[in-house]
Amino acid sequence: MRIIFIIFLITLISCNNTKVLKVVSPNSKIEVTIDVESESAQYSINYKDSLFIKPSKLGFELKGAQSLNKNFKVIGVQKSHSNTVWSQVWGENKDIVDNFNKLTVNLQERGHLKRKMNLIFKVYDDGVGFRYEIPEQENIDSISISKELTEFNFSKNDTAWYTPANFDSYEMLYKKAPLSEIASANTPITIETVDGFFASIHEANLTDYAGMTLLQSKHKALSFQCNLVPWPDGVKVKRKAPMLSPWRTIQIADSADKLVESNLILNLNEPNKIKDVSWIEPMKYIGVWWGMHLGTQTWTLGERHGANTIDTERYIDFAHKHNIQGVLVEGWNTGWENWGKKDAFDFVTPYEDFNLKEVTQYAAAKNINFIGHVETGGAAQSFQDHLDEIFSMYHKLGVKTVKTGYAGGIQTKGQYHHGQYMVNHYREVVTTAAKYHIMIDAHEPIKATGIRRTYPNMMTREGVRGMEWNAWSSGNPPDHHTILPFTRGLAGPIDYTPGTFDILYRNAKNRVKWNDLDDGTSRVNTTLAKQLALFVVLYSPLQMASDVIENYENQPAFKFIEDLGVDWETSKVLNGKIGDYITVVRKDKHSDNWFLGSITDENKRNIKVTLSFLDKGKKYRAEIYADGLNTDWKTNPQEINIFQEEVDFKSSLELKLAPGGGQAIRFIAINQ
Ligand code: NOJ
Ligand code: CA
Repeated sequence: MRIIFIIFLITLISCNNTKVLKVVSPNSKIEVTIDVESESAQYSINYKDSLFIKPSKLGFELKGAQSLNKNFKVIGVQKSHSNTVWSQVWGENKDIVDNFNKLTVNLQERGHLKRKMNLIFKVYDDGVGFRYEIPEQENIDSISISKELTEFNFSKNDTAWYTPANFDSYEMLYKKAPLSEIASANTPITIETVDGFFASIHEANLTDYAGMTLLQSKHKALSFQCNLVPWPDGVKVKRKAPMLSPWRTIQIADSADKLVESNLILNLNEPNKIKDVSWIEPMKYIGVWWGMHLGTQTWTLGERHGANTIDTERYIDFAHKHNIQGVLVEGWNTGWENWGKKDAFDFVTPYEDFNLKEVTQYAAAKNINFIGHVETGGAAQSFQDHLDEIFSMYHKLGVKTVKTGYAGGIQTKGQYHHGQYMVNHYREVVTTAAKYHIMIDAHEPIKATGIRRTYPNMMTREGVRGMEWNAWSSGNPPDHHTILPFTRGLAGPIDYTPGTFDILYRNAKNRVKWNDLDDGTSRVNTTLAKQLALFVVLYSPLQMASDVIENYENQPAFKFIEDLGVDWETSKVLNGKIGDYITVVRKDKHSDNWFLGSITDENKRNIKVTLSFLDKGKKYRAEIYADGLNTDWKTNPQEINIFQEEVDFKSSLELKLAPGGGQAIRFIAINQ
């Protein structure tokens, strides 16, 4: 049932009134105050009885024109309320409640310019979104934003989990620090407040605009300013009126687990624009991949070339046998020997030991998706110039998923991964792919801002320090995964690629070092049970079991991956503490089965969970994949205990997690 009710109220306000406007969340706990007649337009946010964001500036500095942020009068105010439910094509939850109060403030400058700008606020029970609109008007044609003036002035010295601002990469470990000690940050940045609630600053619907980072003011304590990623000439955003900015988002929740359950980012994006979605399907995949990262195989042609016809067909056979729907192949196309050079790849020519036609036909005959690979090495423009040719080639071969990559700097001089030029490139890839019925998994991407709602072929992305770092660097410490769901995960799906079974790389003989970060001591810093649990904890509609298949053969633990669902009716966070532990459950969209993943940092932990999420009146067989008594990520990571129990919604379980460990459970509804 869709319930829609909209109250529409238009108030015209006299020009010389000082205007302070307020808009609250449906449950009245969040209150936003907008004051447009102070020295600069500004907003502030209260949560319950606490001032969270102090008065903070709004507006723009423009190149070649006066700043657009002050001397405004209010020429119109519209308030409305809407409460609807919409359904996702795929996702963590099938149905999403979209319940908000909206306030639009129409501003016009006093004086001779009389330029107009609208501020749009949407306030939900789980946070606030606001954006700028510069409508079509006589005195504005092209817009060159040299600075977005948006501020986030925190009222208290809260604690945050963040990565330092970077215009090219999000592949860093998160740090925890008081706000006062943070010079700059990427978004999302997640905050635990002195007043006991949690929040996150990010953006939604990043379209035709530069990515936002935050920079702390050297002059004003706890004042973070929007710092947009620039074009080579220093301008941040180049647009024409009418212009809508992305939403600036402030998610707020009483607990860290509730923050993870927030749908604010999706709600602030436009509805699905793809009419026929029958070709879009979440799936599990494996790949000719890990061997290259470990250094036992190569992307380049030669004796150890991973992407050869014979080995790829073995992967297809394995996938077919084990309920895996896709096989990614990297290094199938020429150009890897020119790594680091300009336009190294043509993206379409196979190496001589790889028969693309045969392999794609072989995959199709076994009902397996061949996942294509476009590594640009930063040559985004060359990829963009050949988009139709590349995607139509894949389409003709029956390939409907492509992984993209932008490793290294962007080759177009002075451009960054996260500037407007690349934001537009990434979007062009997604919309062109949609024309050819192709799903995208983007590596070295722009951060997720909810575009998957509008273009549900934008499946998943990296933008995270993923599994690969374990192969050739000091790796990801055990607490990394207990931070990700509360930080990077708030933005959207993560292609982390869990599932390494050979945790110490004992089977990876004859490794050849290809990366300077590899000091020869690399390993995975978790237990095996935790690798399984990550498949539930870290959400992705394309979920890669990343180890080489030899390490999965005859491993009873692989059955969990084999049985794992890929699309969810509903998801819940049962408990969690940022950086310490988290337990997530998800109900399969296509059966009555539930899946649980629980993980801890380097500390061992017993976590009691009640199973009240299970459907009432049903009995379940719980297949439990647990750390053993002596399991320890450091000394004994691979010991796993697999057993079964009969449970129902009244049962509770004590999850015993080893240091660096985890637990994964499949609850199978038993027909009675
Ligand atoms: C970096 C990507 O994250 C990784 O998955 C890929 O294998 C390499 N680039 C090569 O394309
Ligand atoms: Ca990467």
